[in-house]
Amino acid sequence: MAITYELIKTCKQTGARLGKVHTPHGSFDTPMFMPVGTLATVKTMSPEELIQMDAQIILSNTYHLWLRPGEDIVKEAGGLHRFMNWDRPILTDSGGFQVFSLSKIRDITEEGVHFRHHLSGEKLFFSPEKAMQVQNDLGPDIMMVLDECPPYPATYDYMEQSINRTTRWAERCLQAHKRKEDQALFGIIQGGEYEDLRKQSAKDLISLDFPGYAIGGLSVGEPKEIMNEMLEVTTPLMPSNKPRYLMGVGSPDSLIDGAIRGIDMFDCVLPTRIARNGTCMTSSGRLVVRNAKYARDFSPIDQNCECYTCQNYTRAYIRHLINTNEILGFRLTTYHNLYFLLKLMKQVRTAISEDRLGDFKEVFFEQYGFNEH
Ligand code: GUN
Ligand code: ZN
Repeated sequence: MAITYELIKTCKQTGARLGKVHTPHGSFDTPMFMPVGTLATVKTMSPEELIQMDAQIILSNTYHLWLRPGEDIVKEAGGLHRFMNWDRPILTDSGGFQVFSLSKIRDITEEGVHFRHHLSGEKLFFSPEKAMQVQNDLGPDIMMVLDECPPYPATYDYMEQSINRTTRWAERCLQAHKRKEDQALFGIIQGGEYEDLRKQSAKDLISLDFPGYAIGGLSVGEPKEIMNEMLEVTTPLMPSNKPRYLMGVGSPDSLIDGAIRGIDMFDCVLPTRIARNGTCMTSSGRLVVRNAKYARDFSPIDQNCECYTCQNYTRAYIRHLINTNEILGFRLTTYHNLYFLLKLMKQVRTAISEDRLGDFKEVFFEQYGFNEH
């Protein structure tokens, strides 16, 4: 078994799970947020900085690394951990979602996906077997099956066909996976906004006995209530002795709402992407540091933050850096946003251990609001 999940306790107030996942590159605490390093780098951050902010696991993308530099080069370097100088756990997404979101021209068949390179237009083909070969060569601790992430909304009939194909692809992935002893392969539950299809997808994938399960196809434009409802029908069916990963979700409210519904792992480009655009997550909501009103504001991004950025730099200075496209500006806001989410998850874990995640949510939502200022 490449990984194991240790359930430490559940929150008496909410049912949220406190746990640990053990991998060949060490353990990480759950619920956990995974910073995204699409191209084998969390944009603008060095591994030392990620360790300093206590990032315990990062995510990277099969699709991007397959195209550039090519998994053969990463393998020759000794695998992704060695290639990028990160020896803590790594999870790679399969490429399914990236093919669907980046390539406008694509043709899905039973065999796989035919599509065009999102930059060069070159004709490409990706399949469950290819997704496994590339991820076996990259060597992350956790790899994902190739799935279809249908758009929202999709018709019931389309979704039904799609979850069945995703299950057949998941079986092919299990067959093709060659490093079961040191790489864990997670199944991905789909089903869109349809309760019965979510349940069917969960049941079918769980019967294939993966070491962990993800919930995909959410945070694709549906209202927040639908995501919560889908989690509520899905997580109770999932085995309690395996990790549960909600893909592509990273807004502070959704992290808390997901943890309350029994999710252990999350990833999202949100904190790093908005950082490069001058938007910071703070204890009182989002702050757009580019705004003119911060030109002479010599206070930190967040008064309540202990991060390197907030201990040493002002809103006025960071605003100036971002407005002049200076790299340091992007680095400082990225550091702060990741620190903010990692600290939020630490607070969530402490609240679970003290059976008060419901109270924590109430206070946090009140303070964070959902307004920009
Ligand atoms: N990232 C966000 N959502 C998804 C999904 O549904 N599938 C995959 N593979 N990755 C995702
Ligand atoms: Zn900070």
